[in-house]
Amino acid sequence: MSAAREQEEDDSNGDNLHPVQPQQASQAPDTAPNGGEVQLRLPVSEDGTSVHQLIENCPPLDTNSLYCNLLQASHFAATSVAAERNGALVGFISGYIIPDRPDTLFIWQVAVAEGGRGMGLAGRMLREILARPACRGVSHLETTITPDNEASWALFRGFARKLGAACADTVMFDRERHFNGQHDSELLVRIGPFSPVGHQRNTD
Ligand SMILES: CC(C)(COP(=O)(O)OP(=O)(O)OC[C@H]1O[C@@H](n2cnc3c(N)ncnc32)[C@H](O)[C@@H]1OP(=O)(O)O)[C@@H](O)C(=O)NCCC(=O)NCCS
Repeated sequence: MSAAREQEEDDSNGDNLHPVQPQQASQAPDTAPNGGEVQLRLPVSEDGTSVHQLIENCPPLDTNSLYCNLLQASHFAATSVAAERNGALVGFISGYIIPDRPDTLFIWQVAVAEGGRGMGLAGRMLREILARPACRGVSHLETTITPDNEASWALFRGFARKLGAACADTVMFDRERHFNGQHDSELLVRIGPFSPVGHQRNTD
């Protein structure tokens, strides 16, 4: 496991995230190329096959079984988000609260269809999840990224910067030790602590 690399990112462009209420997040559609507004909503189990297709169209993401996508869109719906434009799924984030660490949201996969990229949709979907009641107690976000996925590094480092939060990475799943040399190492990115997004922290 490599040594933790602490990466404090400043917010020199003043682009801090502003808290948004969940309703505001869902009711504030954005336009995107190819026309139409992108609406964010809770996933439903019927999204499973579209999620499966979207992930397949978004290399370098690993595809999961359709059954796994069905579970993401049902059991994990409260911490996942679907982005829809003209009735088509154009973005999806699967996530969950780590079972023995209720202050940490783990982001499993982020996918944005090619035509919708570069317009802030991934960041908007992350904020939408963090503003949900299910994330009321969340102060940290974790995900894993392969070393060469520049878009993903840019997304999460930029997101940490906007939250004004620290961002550190370590090896979580190692190429040899965990993947038997068949897959690049997955680096664990941990962002936080940050203030609740979109709702007031409980005063106790
Ligand atoms: C990674 C991905 C989700 C980004 O979606 P997106 O909606 O285009 O991202 P955003 O527009 O919200 O951009 C977020 C930040 O990443 C940067 N970024 C996005 N794509 C980038 C790229 N290809 N190269 C470098 N930076 C990139 C943006 O400039 C932005 O930076 P900023 O916050 O400093 O302004 C999308 O490219 C994708 O689905 N890729 C394939 C699947 C994948 O790799 N998923 C991530 C692994 S879980």
